[in-house]
Amino acid sequence: MTETVSPVDLTTLTSLCKRRGFLFQSSEIYGGLASTWDYGPLGVELKNNVKRAWWQHFVWGRDDMIGLDAAILMHPGVWRASGHADHFSDPLVECLQCRMRWREDQLEQPACPNCGGELSEPRHFNQMLTTNLGPVQDDASLTFLRPETAQGIFVNFNNVLTAMRRRPPFGIAQIGKAFRNEITTGNFIFRTREFEMMEIEFFVRPGEDQEWHQEWVRECVDWYSALGLREDRLRLRPHDPDELSHYSKATTDVEYRFPWGWGEIQGIANRTDYDLRAHSQHSGETLAYFDDDTREHVAPYVIEPSAGVDRAVMAFLVDAYGEEEAVSAKGKAEKRVVLRLHPALAPVKVAVLPLSRNERLAPTARRVHDLLRRSRAIDGPVQYDDAQSIGRRYRRQDEIGAPLCVTVDFDTLDDHAVTIRDRDTMAQDRVPIERLVEELRGRLAQ
Ligand code: GAP
Repeated sequence: MTETVSPVDLTTLTSLCKRRGFLFQSSEIYGGLASTWDYGPLGVELKNNVKRAWWQHFVWGRDDMIGLDAAILMHPGVWRASGHADHFSDPLVECLQCRMRWREDQLEQPACPNCGGELSEPRHFNQMLTTNLGPVQDDASLTFLRPETAQGIFVNFNNVLTAMRRRPPFGIAQIGKAFRNEITTGNFIFRTREFEMMEIEFFVRPGEDQEWHQEWVRECVDWYSALGLREDRLRLRPHDPDELSHYSKATTDVEYRFPWGWGEIQGIANRTDYDLRAHSQHSGETLAYFDDDTREHVAPYVIEPSAGVDRAVMAFLVDAYGEEEAVSAKGKAEKRVVLRLHPALAPVKVAVLPLSRNERLAPTARRVHDLLRRSRAIDGPVQYDDAQSIGRRYRRQDEIGAPLCVTVDFDTLDDHAVTIRDRDTMAQDRVPIERLVEELRGRLAQ
């Protein structure tokens, strides 16, 4: 058996995602909406698993973290204070020949990538998407769709401090949608105008910020590695001073080697006290904690690990994809496509497969399926598949990344045992049904 380890190309991945129900183009029956994607039945499970693994690790797994879920719509004053109204822009250039628009800072040469034509002078293009609240569309009703979830955390700083009786160092985590009117989108779900973020604002004492920044960079890379991303496809990239965001003193990106090259999946920024001070000035409410040592109110510094959910999903899919030469039950050479997703991320945890559609097997196979489906120990969807040959069904489960299959055969009727088949090793073991849940739980937890 030989395995292909080169990254899967985008066309193959997009096609698998559509065919097997991970991702569909948004509004497809109307011709689609550019760079907008819907998560299908398996995609939503995978995406929820990514978010859950993140929350479990960074919120429940630590005693210095708590969660929040703020509204997407916020007072427009928030965005003036945060600097987004003025500074959240990209340099837009237009080709004077073919009229295509580009982000100047993403171009490799000062010419149009489409036709080689001359480009216009850059102008600042604000990425904030706007909407109007209420029945009248005027400046007073104008508001923004948040471009980051972070501000919902900053404006709630005093509320959380009081309600949860916290003092730095502690962090607030939030997962939610964000919107950006990107000039150029693309590479599947990598750059879209609507996406989801997993953000932490970690509040520390001024002076302790650099140490915490390094600590969070390590924590974040470890999380991706623990969930299976290959270390040679992960790297850290500190920002040059001229590319730092308006609020950042230092930022390090975690990058993944996608099929087209290295791309950011997460940024870890040192936002200093920029945001809390800005909101204190603009709102009139002091956002600070009382420092017992200095007996003063202090605005903490903020370390911000900020990850894209969709980019994480994409990195996990790319990384998990493998093609192997395998030998079929009939001895023929065939290709096996396998998604080696970590069991915690796999959209289907177990598939129950009766050896054939023979009516003697169905009642027992259905009973096993019910047992697993209702068991909280499996903690995820359990599929039942009895269509086509057992070999074809194993391949189908491999292609969606189901870590384990349970096969019910004619011996099961006598010995009350089933076969567990492992996705990665393809090893098969016989296990009594009475020990099945415990056995599966153990294997899925590895
Ligand atoms: N609050 C900090 C912040 O917003 P960012 O680097 O602009 O920082 C954080 O965004 C993460 O959000 C990125 O690392 C990326 O994973 C994701 N992200 C940003 N823009 C995106 C887009 N247009 N489409 C998909 N994900 C995006």
